[in-house]
Amino acid sequence: MAKQLQAIRGMNDILPDESALWQRLEAVVREVLSAYDYQEIRLPIVEKTELFARSIGEVTDIVEKEMYTFNDRGGDSLTLRPEGTAGCVRACIEHGLLHHQTQRLWYAGPMFRYERPQKGRYRQFHQVGAEAYGMEGPDIDAELICLSARLWQRLGIRQVTLQLNSLGSSAARAAYRERLVAYFTARHSELDEDSQRRLRSNPLRILDSKNPALRPLLAEAPSLLDHLDPESLAHFEALKALLDTAGIPYEINPKLVRGLDYYCKTVFEWVTETLGAQGTICAGGRYDGLIEQLGGQAVSGVGFALGLERLIAMLAANKPAIETAPHAYLIMVGDAAQRHGLALAERLRDQVPGLRLRMNCGGGGFKAQFRRADTSGAHFALILGENEVATESVSIKPLRATENQQHTLAGDQVAAYLRAAILEKL
Ligand code: HAM
Repeated sequence: MAKQLQAIRGMNDILPDESALWQRLEAVVREVLSAYDYQEIRLPIVEKTELFARSIGEVTDIVEKEMYTFNDRGGDSLTLRPEGTAGCVRACIEHGLLHHQTQRLWYAGPMFRYERPQKGRYRQFHQVGAEAYGMEGPDIDAELICLSARLWQRLGIRQVTLQLNSLGSSAARAAYRERLVAYFTARHSELDEDSQRRLRSNPLRILDSKNPALRPLLAEAPSLLDHLDPESLAHFEALKALLDTAGIPYEINPKLVRGLDYYCKTVFEWVTETLGAQGTICAGGRYDGLIEQLGGQAVSGVGFALGLERLIAMLAANKPAIETAPHAYLIMVGDAAQRHGLALAERLRDQVPGLRLRMNCGGGGFKAQFRRADTSGAHFALILGENEVATESVSIKPLRATENQQHTLAGDQVAAYLRAAILEKL
């Protein structure tokens, strides 16, 4: 037997029995984004490597060791996108979407990071991102947070908390970085290996360390919030006031620094304890310098991305009942029935909105076809035998109801019968 091939580690198939939940999640997300008037933008999965190096930052984990980078046949270095913000900014600049206008955009699709796979962390994963351009004030930060809060409410997701921080302006952060480097250098022996490396490359990320041994050291570290520039501080205070008025609770987490370099001012994460170590289901913030840094005008940007695998894991735990079985299964016995059956099935799909009708393929006697109808989970068997063809009728047998007497309807009444059954939710 030929050797069986398997999917790449950390890249998952989403099987038919899972896809209904994905579709429901995606539909709710789309509906909520539309309620805030965000427009969809569809972006390539592959971009020039330089785009990510220049936006996410050369010394981030993502760019240093997690990107799927390769040379194409023309010798250009390309990368499978590890996130969507960089490509979104690139597209907006390229198509002039930021000239004297604001934008509220969203995108969805797979992202790729060569991380160590574990529950909630994959090498191909899916995000929905929302990005807003050309708005400097905290009102748009608050809108994005309200939008995400509405998502949890619409999805029935509880047990999430909003963590909030401000990274300040890049000048304030540079000054803070110096303070932090001085502090950690003085206590160098207390740092673990990873943090010693980060002290040279990206010292703020030490604050994000999950190593419990570092807790006392981190607890006493100077706080970024004490080093904010006046403008960032006013922005942060105004955002908090807006969230208070909107009734959205938050926790201030001065250690929240994010793993991408483009952020300034507001950063936030929605986290849950129900998913174990990978508990961030949505993360984002403001990135006012990025558009200019990538060659555009000096307009501000802010946004977030949802991790869909993690949301699916939370939704699946609530065990939602999603009906995916066919409403009806069409049984046809005899040559004439086979011929008429195909046309009948087409007619019913025209006439009954939302109908899920499975037609028996591959022939078989009544008994075999009833068995297939039963295993399909269908609510009704529609039966077309020689008698029905001769009398232009269709017999109907309810398969799930306790009252399951077979009865016969005139052919032109079947659509009305199914419409009523679907409306009454069967
Ligand atoms: P991020 O924090 O890197 O931000 O990713 C956002 C979310 O994507 C995470 O909170 C998580 O739910 C999900 N995620 C990330 N990596 C993985 C993985 N390996 N497996 C499963 N899920 C994952 C960004 O990507 C920014 N572009 C967000 C943003 C948009 N900021 C401003 N606008």
